[in-house]
Amino acid sequence: MADVGVLGLGDMGAALAQTLLTAGFDTVVWNRTSSRADALVGAGAHWADTAEAALGAADVVLVCVDDYAATDSFLKTPQAESTLRGRALVQLSSGSPRQAREGKAWADGMGAHYVDGAIMAFPSEIGGRETTIVASGDETGFQRAEPLLRALAGNTAYLGSDAGLASALDQALISGVLGTILGVVNGVLLCEAGGFPAAQYAEILGGFMTTLGAQAQAVARRAAEGDYRETQAALRTWARALEHAAETTREAGASDEVARFISGLFRRAVEAGHGDHDIAALIEVLRKPAADG
Ligand SMILES: NC(=O)c1ccc[n+]([C@@H]2O[C@H](COP(=O)([O-])OP(=O)(O)OC[C@H]3O[C@@H](n4cnc5c(N)ncnc54)[C@H](OP(=O)(O)O)[C@@H]3O)[C@@H](O)[C@H]2O)c1
Repeated sequence: MADVGVLGLGDMGAALAQTLLTAGFDTVVWNRTSSRADALVGAGAHWADTAEAALGAADVVLVCVDDYAATDSFLKTPQAESTLRGRALVQLSSGSPRQAREGKAWADGMGAHYVDGAIMAFPSEIGGRETTIVASGDETGFQRAEPLLRALAGNTAYLGSDAGLASALDQALISGVLGTILGVVNGVLLCEAGGFPAAQYAEILGGFMTTLGAQAQAVARRAAEGDYRETQAALRTWARALEHAAETTREAGASDEVARFISGLFRRAVEAGHGDHDIAALIEVLRKPAADG
């Protein structure tokens, strides 16, 4: 038996397999397109001709492909399912909390120890001491995979037996990062529209962002606790600033959709009586389905 099987050798899967090989783990690999395994086989990995052969050859199996639909295409076959009993199966492909929970229910039925993991890093960061993987699901499965996961990500954490937890945290953290990045890109647009050098904005932003972490934590806490009374800038004040920003990009003949989208949420919160409250009160608007959804 090999120490580990890696199914899926795209950018991330190949980085996982290479790091495990470098760390000295006996590694079996499989990928739909076999040529993507050439470099890894050259570096000492064992090639499996089929997904079920890889599953049968290792005690712990990591899956890292596009999504759950791709995973199902090679795991939910009679041949693959017959190899799963007793295996620790770690799903590292991105998905939703519901998909993770359904994946665990299916794997439980096969007698496998199912863990859902979220990789919070780029391929080049795999193997780092600070690199984070969060995992949830079958505790025995996690314990068996833990030495491998720690070799991939020094900051590996087990969140609990509910398989959906890792994906839920991953989605929430990605939302924070992408929301910030979208705001930054729109900031460049506002520089262009307002006549401020965007390169200088990029320089200034670094220092400006150092205070964002603490502010973001305070907003998240208030939203989670439902107490919006404490604020230094009321929601109605922010709402006005956004309307001005939308105006600036419109006047420059550019898109105002980012500022308009955000200001629409703020307007709804003001209309719902949160004008004097902290920005965290936006959660009250978002908890209801959108009118067009
Ligand atoms: N890249 C990152 O920075 C990053 C970070 C965190 C998490 N992730 C997650 O890691 C997963 C893989 O990402 P990636 O960057 O490695 O993507 P990628 O480079 O595009 O590779 C995709 C992989 O999925 C396989 N695949 C797709 N459809 C398949 C199917 N129907 N049957 C079998 N295999 C199939 C591909 O096989 P072929 O080679 O045959 O096409 C390939 O191995 C994703 O869920 C992604 O969200 C990636």
